[in-house]
Amino acid sequence: MVVNFKTYQEAHGASAVSLARTMEGIETNARLVAAVSPLDLAQVVQAAPNLEVWCQHIDPIGFGSNTGWINPDTAIHWGATGTLINHAEHKVSLEHVAMLLDQVPEDFQVCACAADTDEARALAALVPTYVAVEPPELIGGDVSVTSADPGIVSRTADAVRETDERVGVLCGAGVKTGADVEMAVELGTSGVLLASGVTKAADQEDSLKDLVSLL
Ligand code: G3P
Repeated sequence: MVVNFKTYQEAHGASAVSLARTMEGIETNARLVAAVSPLDLAQVVQAAPNLEVWCQHIDPIGFGSNTGWINPDTAIHWGATGTLINHAEHKVSLEHVAMLLDQVPEDFQVCACAADTDEARALAALVPTYVAVEPPELIGGDVSVTSADPGIVSRTADAVRETDERVGVLCGAGVKTGADVEMAVELGTSGVLLASGVTKAADQEDSLKDLVSLL
């Protein structure tokens, strides 16, 4: 379960550190990942050393003259073990994803986001660690993709597996409850990518506990 902190006020700065600590303390067999701002990365890793921490985006560049870009080496230096890429809110070219995959170490986790099954298939051909399908119109909403459009989840899971069975599949958009996560797994994914269900929850810890409760 990847929790994308985005730039939510409730998940930035000191709140990012606090949410990461809360995630680290959740008792579950599920694998929890925090995808944080590069500005918060080092502090979050330091505060929650047993939590898996990813970036929300990185660029396929190296050391040198690259003003404002996010260097994978620097992210790794500060403890990132993976990244999202091509999120609906930060689209990049297929070439960007391909170059990134060429550049990062083999064990660095890359979750490439897709708006639909066709994009998921194209991304899966590049063999990232995961492809996450998220219909943009459902992102941040109250209805989970697993209820609003279960077909896109199961079709994408099949398409990714047919393209390359080494690639894992996640789904996201509107995921808020343990039942949503259970349904995502029933539809053929290995997990979910979510944000507001946790970041905007009245009680983030309760929400995390509920999300993993049926796994
Ligand atoms: O990256 C996760 C995301 O785009 C889904 O957001 O708020 O619908 O869980 P949300």
